[in-house]
Amino acid sequence: MLSRTAASEFTARFGRPPRWVVAAPGRVNIIGEHTDYSGGLVLPMAIDRYTVIAAAPAPADAGQRLRLHSAAMDQSVDIPLAATPAPGEPRWANYARGVLAGFGARGLVPPALDGLVISDVPLGGGLSSSAAFEVATATLLEAALGQTLDPVEKARLCRQAEHDYALVPCGIMDQLISVLGDEAGALLIDCRTQQSRLVPFADPSVSLLIANSNVRHSLGDGAYAVRMSACMEAARMLGVAELGVATPAQVAAAESKLGPLLHRRARHVVTENGRTRAAADALAAGDWRAAGALMYESHRSLRDDFEVSSPELDTLVELARDIGEAGGVFGARMTGGGFGGCTVTLAASDRVGDIGERLAREYQQRHDRPLAWFVSRPARGAHIVEDLGK
Ligand code: GLA
Repeated sequence: MLSRTAASEFTARFGRPPRWVVAAPGRVNIIGEHTDYSGGLVLPMAIDRYTVIAAAPAPADAGQRLRLHSAAMDQSVDIPLAATPAPGEPRWANYARGVLAGFGARGLVPPALDGLVISDVPLGGGLSSSAAFEVATATLLEAALGQTLDPVEKARLCRQAEHDYALVPCGIMDQLISVLGDEAGALLIDCRTQQSRLVPFADPSVSLLIANSNVRHSLGDGAYAVRMSACMEAARMLGVAELGVATPAQVAAAESKLGPLLHRRARHVVTENGRTRAAADALAAGDWRAAGALMYESHRSLRDDFEVSSPELDTLVELARDIGEAGGVFGARMTGGGFGGCTVTLAASDRVGDIGERLAREYQQRHDRPLAWFVSRPARGAHIVEDLGK
């Protein structure tokens, strides 16, 4: 659907049909939060919300540039291809600039292109809209160059773009799942080795409900980087390369050395790792109750130990818990970087509509804000939707 809109908007704007349509999904993280940059475990799933780019080679007299038009911003930008692009205005284009820089650093310079970007991943909602844009751009460049990168390399390139051009020192989770997403389920990713394995999640009787608090999260505001530094400092004090390799016993034994704050931060990471491994097993076994209990516990740890939740996210998790198993809810937690954004709720499919409506009603009453909610099946990772040159 979205790819057809992208193609027709491209045609209307550029006066010819696109040659390529590419798509990259957003994601929801089921569990394993704020562990990726410590080499821990994560369990994200690609969602059927995509950033789509329709594109074609630029006219012969266009010069060496990528012209991108953003449907969301109703704005076009020309990014020169001859030299490494500098970050700048408009800021939304920095993701594409960063990806072009990554290709350039590998000696890969695409031909001049026109492209139109459109997305149904909520922007700034903690569902990896930026990773979807980076990975869609990289997928377009692969198509235009007729050359594909190794998938993990592609994710690393996109993460570098986020670091250098959006100045968010993120981990690898979002870009990896946008590249590797699988319709058959979620991926358990070991962020230390960057290896992943599929955790089948295709039972139609359960669904993931994603509830957007409509409080925009901003990871560039420093709190994310502060959490990351705390983890590095705790790892240094524990004498390990990164917290992902530390055990709960090691962290407990070092409580007084770490002091209360670093102890809580480190405790979140090491216990979240255990929960993530256990949740992957529970989901694979269809043990929804066990998976849900781990999600609640993850939320508590993120709220109290890692302190990245928000009052709105806490409300959404509490409301889900009040509905409980009798009403079809197995578990809920905040998802993504936090400080706003979304929660993810594991729910019985035949009750999910009622659950969404009730969450929306009670959330509006408590916070005087609308709730946007939707359900997603596992979705396919980045791909070329259409290549009319073939
Ligand atoms: C953001 C980052 C990810 C990850 C999550 C928290 O989404 O981009 O790398 O750190 O926060 O789990």
